[in-house]
Amino acid sequence: VEDIMQEIPVGLIGGGFMARVHSLGYAALPYFFWPRQVTMGKRRLADQEEGLARQAAERFGWEEHTCDWRAVAEASDIGLVDICTPNDLHAEIALSAIAAGKNILCEKPLAMSADEAWTMYEAAEQAGVVHAVGFNYRMTPAVQMAKRLIDEGKIGRIYHFRGFYLQDFGIDPKLPLSWRFQAARAGSGSLGDIGAHVIDMAQYLVGDLARVTADAETFVHDRPLATSVLDTLAMARQGSPSTARGTVDVDDGVSFLIRFANGAMGTIEATRFAYGRKNHLAFEVNGDCGSIRFDWERRNELYFYSADDPADQQGFKTIIAGPPHPYGEAMWPMAGIGTGYLESTVILLQELSYALAGKGGAMPTFEDGWKVCAVLDAVQESARQGNWVTIPPMPPFQVPAPTDSSQFGSSIC
Ligand SMILES: NC(=O)c1ccc[n+]([C@@H]2O[C@H](COP(=O)([O-])OP(=O)(O)OC[C@H]3O[C@@H](n4cnc5c(N)ncnc54)[C@H](O)[C@@H]3O)[C@@H](O)[C@H]2O)c1
Repeated sequence: VEDIMQEIPVGLIGGGFMARVHSLGYAALPYFFWPRQVTMGKRRLADQEEGLARQAAERFGWEEHTCDWRAVAEASDIGLVDICTPNDLHAEIALSAIAAGKNILCEKPLAMSADEAWTMYEAAEQAGVVHAVGFNYRMTPAVQMAKRLIDEGKIGRIYHFRGFYLQDFGIDPKLPLSWRFQAARAGSGSLGDIGAHVIDMAQYLVGDLARVTADAETFVHDRPLATSVLDTLAMARQGSPSTARGTVDVDDGVSFLIRFANGAMGTIEATRFAYGRKNHLAFEVNGDCGSIRFDWERRNELYFYSADDPADQQGFKTIIAGPPHPYGEAMWPMAGIGTGYLESTVILLQELSYALAGKGGAMPTFEDGWKVCAVLDAVQESARQGNWVTIPPMPPFQVPAPTDSSQFGSSIC
C-alpha cells in the first residue's frame, strides 16, 4: 500500500503546553492510523523566546526553530501552519498564513471575538485552504459514540443539555498573572479557556445555540506578575517570586442558561475555582427516549439510559469505549485499555489529514470556531447586562471560484 501520498511540511507557532501536545500528536499519528493520508513533517517551530524555541524544537522533534512567527506563517516551505499561541495572536497569524496560501490548524478559542473569527473563516474559505480548530475533546471515542447514539435517535427528541468544565488551578492566589488572566490576551477567562470546549460539545451534539443568559465573577482581582512568558501549570504550582502585582480582568467562573435553536434547554458552567475538580469536562443530555452522560475524567466510559429497557432493568448502563466505537479500531486492540488526551488530538489530526488529502475530513473547522466565539460574545454581553442575549446568525460571505493560490493550498487536493 502506498503510504506517502503527499508531503505537508508543518510549521508550529508557540512553544508551550499545546505545542508539546500537537508535536506528540504528529509523531503518534502513524502509530494509530495507517496507511497515512498525508505526511505531516515537523519542519519549523517558532516561539517569541529564543531559548523556548530552541528547546521546544529539540525536545519535540522539529527540524528548525525561529523567533519570528512570520518565518513559519509565510514561509514557502510550509504547507500547514499550526497556531498554538495565546488567543490574541490567532487572527493575525492565521490571516497572514492564509494570505500566503497555507492550510491552518488553530487552537481554541479561534479568536478574540465572533467578528474576528468570521474574518478568519471567510478568508480561509475564499483562499480555499483547509482550516481546523483545536476542539480535541469532541474527538474522544466515547463522545463520538454519544454523537452516534443521538444521531441514531436513541435518546429521541432532546429536552436538556447540562454541561460543566470545572478545574481548580485558579484558586491559589499566588498563581501568577499569566496571559490566561488578562482580557487583552485571552479575551475571557474560564469562559473561553475551558467553557469554549463545553459550548462546542453542546452545539456538536445537540445543535446551534439560539440565546443565553449568564452570570460571571472574578474572585481573585490581582495576582503577582508572571516572571516567565510560559504559563505551564508546573510554574503555577511553584507560584511566582515577583512582588509586583497586576489586575485580573477576566471571569474566574461563569454559569449560563442556554436555549438551543431546536428548542432544547440547558445550562453550562465553567470555572477554575472548583476544588477537587481537575479537568472535569462533563455533560448530560436528556431526551424523550433516554439519556447520555459523559465525564472526561472517566473518558473511556459512556453512560447510556434507554427508556426501551424493561422496567425492571432500567438504569444507566456503562459502555466501555473500545474497538467497536468510532475510531476505536485505530486505537488499542481491547476495550478498557483506554485512550487519553493525546489520542483525542491524534484523532483530530487524522481527520485533518483526510482534509489535506482532499478526502473530506470530519474535524472541527473555523465555522465551528466562529459558532463558539459567537456564544462567548453573547455570554459576556449577557453577564454585563443581566439579560438574555440572542446569538446572531453568521454574516454571509461570497466564496469566489477557487484559484490556484499556492503550492500548498487546496489545489493539491
Ligand atoms: N485544546 C486544548 O485542550 C487546549 C489546552 C490548552 C490550551 N489551549 C489553547 O492553546 C493555545 C496556547 O495555549 P498553551 O496552553 O500552549 O499556552 P502556553 O502559555 O503554554 O504557550 C504559549 C506559547 O506561545 C508563545 N508565544 C507568545 N507570543 C508569541 C509570539 N509573538 N510568537 C511566537 N510565540 C509566542 C509563548 O512564548 C509560549 O511559549 C491557546 O489558544 C489556548 O487557549 C488549548
